[in-house]
Amino acid sequence: MDLSTLPKENWWGDHDYLYKVGGFWLLPQFIQSIYRVVKYFKPMPSDIILASYPKTGTTWLKSLVFSIVHRSSNSKHRLSLNHPHDLVPTLEVQVFTTSNIAPSSENQSNRIFSTHIPYQLLSETLDSSECRVVYVTRNPKDTLVSTWHFVNKWKKAMDYPWQLNLAIDKFCQGLSPCGPYYDHVMGYKKLSMERPTNVFFITYEELRVDPITHVKRLGEFLGFPFEGDEQVQEVVNSCSFEVLSNYEVNRSEESPTWFQLPYNSFFRKGDVGDHKNYLSDETIERIDALTRQKFHSLGFNYGT
Ligand code: A3P
Repeated sequence: MDLSTLPKENWWGDHDYLYKVGGFWLLPQFIQSIYRVVKYFKPMPSDIILASYPKTGTTWLKSLVFSIVHRSSNSKHRLSLNHPHDLVPTLEVQVFTTSNIAPSSENQSNRIFSTHIPYQLLSETLDSSECRVVYVTRNPKDTLVSTWHFVNKWKKAMDYPWQLNLAIDKFCQGLSPCGPYYDHVMGYKKLSMERPTNVFFITYEELRVDPITHVKRLGEFLGFPFEGDEQVQEVVNSCSFEVLSNYEVNRSEESPTWFQLPYNSFFRKGDVGDHKNYLSDETIERIDALTRQKFHSLGFNYGT
């Protein structure tokens, strides 16, 4: 794919651009692999795909889904030694980076992958498979604030930090990796309504408020039902922010081979409503108005 043929827009700093593909803004370093995923990934019916817009709870869902599926084989121990992103690889970041085939694709059931690729780009792949998709989303204001913090963890942010007011403008314009956020969420939301047996849609806030109920539902959806609430509680506890963020592997300042930011940048605060500490009343109203227009008008009363 020749990037010079794609529309591009400045995103962060003077030299950071996003490129537009199929109505979505993508980071240049992942465009080739996204193309490979779209073209070559053939999910098996037993595959589980965890889809999300960045900074909406992907790391948490990775650990939860991994624990649900592998709870009989000491998932807790494996989570204590491995970062969730190394246990559940991201298709376009760790799997289809140089090759057209997903490794270890043969004879393996219940493979778990994740992706940030919007449904609109991945529709043929997902529509032609009976695989299960779990989509997590998060309210736009916390997502924006989490993204802003995450980007400022980049080494180059020491030289030119990303100003919050610029991050807000870009978010509202839909200019963020895999954005527009609203289109990303609505793509999977609609899919979950059309194919409820294959697609499980959950919000970060729902999981925060009542993890037991939703993790139990998730277990049933994935075909790994729990035998009692004690088992559910065990999984919820082992994947809590407090437990996971204290493991050495997740506190590490080292960066993985597949990403420029350290392992610990995926664990910051894990709160609902942290945006209130950063966004003014006017900004909150600005984003809420956008949310009403993009979500509420389509019958999805979420995010304000
Ligand atoms: P904050 O920046 O608001 O703290 P993603 O995994 O999609 O990149 O999202 C990262 C966000 O999820 C961060 O939010 C991070 O702290 C939070 N997070 C990571 N692990 C979590 C967990 N086990 N429970 C709740 N939130 C978690």
